[in-house]
Amino acid sequence: MDDPPRQAALDALAAVRERDAYANLVLPSLLRQRGINGRDAALATELCYGTCRAQGLLDAVLQSCADRPLSEIDGELLDALRLGSYQLLRTRVPPHAAVATTVDLVRAGRGSAAAGFVNAVLRRVGEQDEDGWVAAIAPAADDDPVGHLAMAHSHPRWIAQAFADALGDDLEELAEALAADDTRPLVHLTARPGQISAAELAELTGGQVAPYSPCGVHLADGGDPGELIPIRDHLAQVQDEGSQLVILALASVPLDGTDTRWLDLCAGPGGKAALLGSLSATRGSTVDAVEKAEHRARLVSQSCAGLPVTVHIVDGRDSGLPERAYDRVLVDAPCTGLGALRRRPEARWRRQSNDLAGLVRLQRELLIAALRLVRPGGVVAYVTCSPHLDETVGVVADVVRRTGATQLDARSQFPGVPRLDDGPYVQLWPHRHGTDAMFCALLRR
Ligand SMILES: C[S@@+](CC[C@H](N)C(=O)[O-])C[C@H]1O[C@@H](n2cnc3c(N)ncnc32)[C@H](O)[C@@H]1O
Repeated sequence: MDDPPRQAALDALAAVRERDAYANLVLPSLLRQRGINGRDAALATELCYGTCRAQGLLDAVLQSCADRPLSEIDGELLDALRLGSYQLLRTRVPPHAAVATTVDLVRAGRGSAAAGFVNAVLRRVGEQDEDGWVAAIAPAADDDPVGHLAMAHSHPRWIAQAFADALGDDLEELAEALAADDTRPLVHLTARPGQISAAELAELTGGQVAPYSPCGVHLADGGDPGELIPIRDHLAQVQDEGSQLVILALASVPLDGTDTRWLDLCAGPGGKAALLGSLSATRGSTVDAVEKAEHRARLVSQSCAGLPVTVHIVDGRDSGLPERAYDRVLVDAPCTGLGALRRRPEARWRRQSNDLAGLVRLQRELLIAALRLVRPGGVVAYVTCSPHLDETVGVVADVVRRTGATQLDARSQFPGVPRLDDGPYVQLWPHRHGTDAMFCALLRR
């Protein structure tokens, strides 16, 4: 049977498993190569991304249904089993079609014996619906509520625990936060200040002015920014509204004295540097943008073309830039990225909790370096795209203790943004704000 959308989903799953490909890069390119579009492309996308996201739950179910450990099942057959069980448990594809289409793909690629094995396992998977399986295999909600929600929403336990910790153990809200990682984010645009207004950009793109960022626009669902003329003309850029808000917050802190030298200490690929650069151009200041990786520094130069931004390819911890010289400094630190899981279908299964220790050390060193570079009375924004307490409030508390820096109440620089809790830092959330889960602390030297 010829089934181009499911074959494309299966091939993309193989690339994700075998060579650590990103589903959201490999699948669109497969679809383009094979001329798959319209409803077929939408089906392939839903099946591939959904299967990637649900992998932990699917594997736990499959382990209950297979006669051998999953590690002993051939990779391609495991991909097919995941694709088939995803359709059985999380889509409206009729069960017989979910099984038959998967078995047909396996028969065509791997022969009858493999097809028979996949058929037998998927029939067992189809004996219960998703709720039934969660009840059967997840830890009991009463004994281990976080473990239960982690399985039900198919997240690694350590990530669900990190969200729970950041949300003050509110389980209802934890469920919302985990569910939000399965939604497809709208495309957000930044209208570059001084070049185009959000209202003009919304008009030109058919989008909506964003709820919180004065320079933000939300494209309609499914909107493709690739061909938009304001983007080609560098009047606007694709950028999550949360990223816009943290830059606007840094730029809006009142300062006594000079306000002409700004610094971005972790600039690649340059989205925030470009917004900083546009703002600085309207205010007669300049930006130094530091990036350690050469190829990412090139991207910063491209995104900041025409703006008063100078790129330095150096380590931010030892940049050689003048100390006590900058009025505003951004540290958009390398982090686990747990705040942007909705953008990368497979990301939640790839990140490991033992990545954290090294990141936290680097984050602390970068923030301490930023506090050396900022002038007395200047301001540093410490930003992560993660709500994990170790890399957010943990890093900030540690650095405040070591350096004597003062933490400002960041909430006052996020006017109109609801549900910012007790501060002094700001933690945004997809389920609360429709943004990535950006963290922002503002420190004064
Ligand atoms: C979270 S990303 C920054 C995203 C960027 N601000 C933007 O909005 O496009 C962190 C960046 O820091 C860079 N980086 C990592 N270690 C660094 C270091 N020691 N010094 C400077 N940059 C570093 C990484 O290569 C990466 O590009």
